[in-house]
Amino acid sequence: MPSDLLARRDFLCSSAAATALARPAYSANDRISLAFIGTGVMGSENLGAAMAQSGVEVKALCDVYQPNLERAVARANRGGQQPKAVSDFREILADKSIDAICISTPDHWHPYITVEACKAGKDVYVEKPACVAVDEGAVMVQAARKYNRVVQAGTWQRSGAHFQKACEMVRNGELGKVTFVRAWIYSNQPAKGIGAPQDGSVPAGLDWNLWLGPAPVRQFNPNRFGVYPNAYSYFRFFWDYAGGQLTDSGIHMLDIVQMALGDAMPRGVASQGGKYWFQDDTETPDTMIATFEYPNVLGSWEHRSNNTELGTSRLMGINFHGDRGTLYVDRTLMRVTPEKGSDLQPFEMKRVADPHPLHWANFLDCVRTRKRPNSDIETCVRSSITSILGNLSLRARMRLDWDEQRKTVEQDAARPLLHREYRAPWKLEA
Ligand SMILES: NC(=O)c1ccc[n+]([C@@H]2O[C@H](COP(=O)([O-])OP(=O)(O)OC[C@H]3O[C@@H](n4cnc5c(N)ncnc54)[C@H](O)[C@@H]3O)[C@@H](O)[C@H]2O)c1
Repeated sequence: MPSDLLARRDFLCSSAAATALARPAYSANDRISLAFIGTGVMGSENLGAAMAQSGVEVKALCDVYQPNLERAVARANRGGQQPKAVSDFREILADKSIDAICISTPDHWHPYITVEACKAGKDVYVEKPACVAVDEGAVMVQAARKYNRVVQAGTWQRSGAHFQKACEMVRNGELGKVTFVRAWIYSNQPAKGIGAPQDGSVPAGLDWNLWLGPAPVRQFNPNRFGVYPNAYSYFRFFWDYAGGQLTDSGIHMLDIVQMALGDAMPRGVASQGGKYWFQDDTETPDTMIATFEYPNVLGSWEHRSNNTELGTSRLMGINFHGDRGTLYVDRTLMRVTPEKGSDLQPFEMKRVADPHPLHWANFLDCVRTRKRPNSDIETCVRSSITSILGNLSLRARMRLDWDEQRKTVEQDAARPLLHREYRAPWKLEA
């Protein structure tokens, strides 16, 4: 039975007037019914953050891997929620009692489920990166706008007060003219990496075909599925499903770089690196420097996997360099260090509240008010594209120039790389 809230929303949608949705569609007391698709590590984190908000009903949980689904059901029950558990997300999209969904599947599913959910009239919280191929991003934004949906991306740092303050200081010119930005993540992991296990039989309780979805069909391999207790899944290191360290961690940092630069896109991207350290079957680079030429600002992303020497900073962070000073920001704090002779005052601000629940509060608020969320899908598509181009430059061994008007690269030879073929019957269409 559609709730009052849904009936109101359906009325607004059926009017098909974009302006109608600018009006509040929900009252502050309406409960928002949610479903979670993909209930592994981040799906469980999202479930927990959502359950901590008021006015939320968890209607359904969905995963193609039964053990993860069962763990999430237990977590929801502990939070006083009684969701139904399903293995096929299409059942969720068809359920008219569900207002909004959260997608925490591996990356290769994000675009399709987002677009179909928008068509089904649901608001969406989708994990980062938005997409695996550049061209998918525009379809996601098109769907969000066409169906007037609130689509928040999982780049939750944008809801962090100290990140917001850092971006504000850069934009206000407090560092003077910023011409150089550096972002990084360093780690020191054993060279054996994650090994190279043989293909094998599909574990009990896993629908491997539905896990693969639009990705090329292939036999089950433990590393490609990559779900192990106490580790982030390994799908991240295979091109069919993700983009390695740059689109996994790098996007969080580059998203803040772009937020600070007024959501600018780089016009040129050039990367080098490769697999210099891990002796395993992962495909993405373990060592990399990607450079991004923003308007009058040179940005870089770097990662390495066998050394954590920090220099002046920490394992993951960003430095903005201006003629008056340097601003360092990471997930715990932001700090301003004046240049010698500058009248800029030293300044430090620590993280006061966890931005992830704040990001969820912002999403639910926007579902009610129909405002654009802090990480509207368009901003995440932009930082996803920046990250993907970083990988493509390395793979094509070519500098790539981004044409923001035409949403493509200037290099004809690289254009086919912006596209990803979907395995039938899946088709991405807004
Ligand atoms: N925002 C953040 O800080 C953050 C942190 C970690 C991960 N992530 C993102 O979250 C996503 C998931 O990463 P993870 O580490 O939780 O991976 P994971 O493997 O632990 O979880 C993914 C889950 O999705 C399920 N799944 C796959 N296909 C599905 C389908 N068609 N329908 C339903 N379920 C399906 C898998 O079985 C698995 O349980 C990734 O996109 C990752 O980039 C974001």
